[in-house]
Amino acid sequence: MGRLIRMFVNAGTVAVAVMLWLAGALALGLVTDSGATATTALMALGLLAGGVLLLIRHSLELAARIGNLGTESQRSLATMRRIESRLGTELRQTFRQIEAIQNLNAILPASDVLPATRGWAASPDLILVLIDQVIAQRPSLIVECGSGASTLWLALALRRFGIDGRIVALEADPVFADKTRGFLARHGVSDVAEVREAPLEDLKLADGSYTWYARWAWKDLAGIDLLFVDGPPAATCAKARYPALPSLREALNPASIVIVDDLVVPDMQETLRLWLDAYPEFSSEILPLEKQAALLRTGPR
Ligand SMILES: C[S@@+](CC[C@H](N)C(=O)[O-])C[C@H]1O[C@@H](n2cnc3c(N)ncnc32)[C@H](O)[C@@H]1O
Repeated sequence: MGRLIRMFVNAGTVAVAVMLWLAGALALGLVTDSGATATTALMALGLLAGGVLLLIRHSLELAARIGNLGTESQRSLATMRRIESRLGTELRQTFRQIEAIQNLNAILPASDVLPATRGWAASPDLILVLIDQVIAQRPSLIVECGSGASTLWLALALRRFGIDGRIVALEADPVFADKTRGFLARHGVSDVAEVREAPLEDLKLADGSYTWYARWAWKDLAGIDLLFVDGPPAATCAKARYPALPSLREALNPASIVIVDDLVVPDMQETLRLWLDAYPEFSSEILPLEKQAALLRTGPR
């Protein structure tokens, strides 16, 4: 009924209907000679009916708008709640990162400008985990896939804690290789960390084809105590970081640690799953950090 009223009742149709009614009532009054009072009353009835119809239509429109308003305000409320929840998560995350960077600065006071963290670079919470492992394990050889802020912090830790170790960072991009070398030089730790510029090249493994760091850059590596997998960038190929374990497994020390970043990316979760299937000797611990990471161990703790 409401729909019919909204479809057919409007100022135009009501005006036409009322005019017809008035004309009809007048004609009827004249033909039947029923007198001025009855004719006027009949005509007024038409005007009244027209007014009531317009009023009903207006009320229906108003009710529909109020209904929409309710839906809209529910939607706005849901959006506000989502924003509030995201803001809360971001605030907690920011606090954790500030806490971690403060901790890092306290353990490893730096004498020069530091590279930015988060985003493309490792986040402070993960760097803190890396440094914690360096302090505990005193590694002789650290290998990094992907250079940057992490390379510098690791080098600072080796120097600060008098660890007789070195870092080899594989880097596919000459610009980032130079940047990392620049930071290492400014902090006087170039002797501790070597950035190897290794362009990505095709690599065929038993289960597929990948692109990974040029073989010459890693084939001499042996006795790795800590492997940090944070490159190549995910966009270079599907499961871009998968080759790290197949390529470097033999170069790992019997008791070694592998830390892998970016498990927030589904492709990296798949990579970790494939690693654990292929190398059951590794135990794995998920680290609930900003970008989610995993720590893999082999051998006794
Ligand atoms: C995840 S990043 C490595 C980050 C490194 N571990 C650090 O803590 O800074 C992996 C690779 O991405 C590339 N990369 C680094 N920063 C980048 C940027 N801002 N834009 C594009 N590529 C970048 C570099 O080739 C790097 O080796």
